[in-house]
Amino acid sequence: MNKLKMIACAITVLATTLTSVVLQAGTVEDGIVSRIHAVGSVCIQGEDCAKALTVAAAGPRSAEDVYNKGCLACHSSGAAGAPKFRVAADWTGRLASGLDVLYSNAINGKGAMPARGLCPSCSDDEVKAAVDYMIEGL
Ligand code: HEC
Repeated sequence: MNKLKMIACAITVLATTLTSVVLQAGTVEDGIVSRIHAVGSVCIQGEDCAKALTVAAAGPRSAEDVYNKGCLACHSSGAAGAPKFRVAADWTGRLASGLDVLYSNAINGKGAMPARGLCPSCSDDEVKAAVDYMIEGL
């Protein structure tokens, strides 16, 4: 009788452990599913969520944002001879040609610099603002 009790007890413990493992697995799985869903949710054109995306993307990007994503790669290090960010010596000769020339070269490209840098979707005004940001205070 005692042996039977012990076996029953062991089974109860085992069952409890198993249940908690299964419950935990369920929670982990739910977490994974919700994370995958957050990344994988798709907005179809015409849906409200897609409209929200379009509106957000259509707003002008800040000069700092455009610089960081589209210009910094070359202009912080001076790669390929790019005039460096706010380094007066790199810019004085170029500034002598006038701001409009700088704007136009940034928009259309010059030498090793591609048109609009790494921001082909940037508007003329966004590129100009990034130029202003790069030479601010010089
Ligand atoms: C792939 C590297 C690269 C990226 C990215 C890049 N540039 Fe340049 N940039 C250059 C190089 C190289 C020059 C020098 C070109 C020359 O004088 O022949 C230059 C020159 C310039 C000049 C001076 C033009 C002149 O008339 O002398 C401006 C202004 C400029 N870049 C603005 C920008 C802006 C704004 C961005 C970001 C939207 C940007 N660049 C992204 C490489 C880059």
